[in-house]
Amino acid sequence: MIAPSLLSADFGNLRDEFQWLNRSTADWIHLDVMDGVFVPNISFGFPVISHVKRLTEKPLDVHLMIVQPEKFIREVSELGAHVMTVHHEACIHLHRTVHEIQRYGMLAGVALNPSTPVAVLQDIIGDLDLVLLMSVNPGFGGQKFIPHTLQKVTQLRTLIAESGSHALIEVDGGVNMDTGRLLRQAGADVLVAGNAIFASDNPEEMCRRLGAL
Ligand code: DX5
Ligand code: ZN
Repeated sequence: MIAPSLLSADFGNLRDEFQWLNRSTADWIHLDVMDGVFVPNISFGFPVISHVKRLTEKPLDVHLMIVQPEKFIREVSELGAHVMTVHHEACIHLHRTVHEIQRYGMLAGVALNPSTPVAVLQDIIGDLDLVLLMSVNPGFGGQKFIPHTLQKVTQLRTLIAESGSHALIEVDGGVNMDTGRLLRQAGADVLVAGNAIFASDNPEEMCRRLGAL
């Protein structure tokens, strides 16, 4: 699957961006919420996402890069999100948060920063619908892919197989045709791509090519 990250879109022309996104092969629309505390940047919040929701029928993949994301489960579900992903590093009671997300009818995702080992998921993997491996330090689009992520995808694939988990593996940051190909080979299910898609001459075609890897 391919999930274009709206962070790299032209926010002055969202209606135009969704003209091509809606007819594209994009499986999900990836939305990065930042609070300036968990990450050194601030992006957009719920009012913007509710506008986005009105522009598309594509499932929304909401990635919260915020502290205490458990405070906003109801708000995110009311936006009609398909996936709600919280950071492992931001949740003290991760098990409770994951089950709360599912109780509100969303898929529950857990994101890991580049320095957080896959092994921290050992006792929760069976409860998860998705694991998001950050392949850059979260906070900004257009950064360089961290190659060690490929090993983490392989480790996570093994952990998922051994535990019988149904979790999808999503990778976010620095994904392009080269890194995307390697990630698919390693076993990634969902690729998030911002810059590679929105900065390309033909975003719709790039979206199709990344999704077909
Ligand atoms: C980074 C965000 C990403 C970002 C990816 O903190 O979580 O979703 O938009 O952008 P690219 O693909 O440009 O690295
Ligand atoms: Zn993201």
